[in-house]
Amino acid sequence: MTRRIRLGVNVDHVATIRNARGGSAPDPLRAALLAIEAGADGITAHLREDRRHIRDDDMLRLKERISKPLNFEMAATEQMLDIALRVKPHAVCLVPERRTERTTEGGLDVIGGHDHLVPFVDELRRAGVRVSLFIEPGAEAIDAAASIRAPVVELHTGAWCHAVEIGDLEAAEKEFRRIVAAAAHTGERGLECHAGHGLDYATARRIAALPQIVELNIGHFLVGEAVFVGLAETIRQMRLAIDEGRSAAVP
Ligand code: PXP
Repeated sequence: MTRRIRLGVNVDHVATIRNARGGSAPDPLRAALLAIEAGADGITAHLREDRRHIRDDDMLRLKERISKPLNFEMAATEQMLDIALRVKPHAVCLVPERRTERTTEGGLDVIGGHDHLVPFVDELRRAGVRVSLFIEPGAEAIDAAASIRAPVVELHTGAWCHAVEIGDLEAAEKEFRRIVAAAAHTGERGLECHAGHGLDYATARRIAALPQIVELNIGHFLVGEAVFVGLAETIRQMRLAIDEGRSAAVP
């Protein structure tokens, strides 16, 4: 079991605030540099088709300037593939994308999209990029991801975190059990297991106890909390929550 879970800090919503006024501040690169200083193990950014937060030049600046791995979240489109091959991030996480959604809703259709995704993943792999697929926590999706030859999956924790947030304990437990079973299945299929979406201190602490989890990608909560206590302090607290959760893990 990996003892220390990697924390990927998603800086999209620093760019959301910047774009609200159309200027250059606050700068997601500055947030990324500060996040790394405070304990982030990598930086995640999602270049959406509508460029509603991160822009093309942000990706290039992040790649050039940060000292930790860059995880480029993107839809599996030709335009994004071209950009990713130019930016050459450490990793690409393929996500589904609909223009009208507020955030990434649901996992990638790895079953219906199999034939499109196989050459897509191959091309990124040949360019030396580590590819992960953002999927629903279920055995079928994990088996499909394995057949697409992606080395990593990121389990979508959004449904679980939402149920926790609205206090629906029954739904939350059901969703968490799905994640536990899915994480175990990634181990059986030899896939590296990441997780993310909607995590806060409490949910990150709990999921960190799952021995298969290697990396958590967290954004919205961190940027929101930073308004009150600062980004560095928020990341230190998150690091602590994850490490506490991990120390409770059963190998
Ligand atoms: N992982 C993936 C694949 C995502 O699409 C997102 C949202 O951009 C996150 C993690 C982070 O989610 P949140 O901002 O809710 O922490």
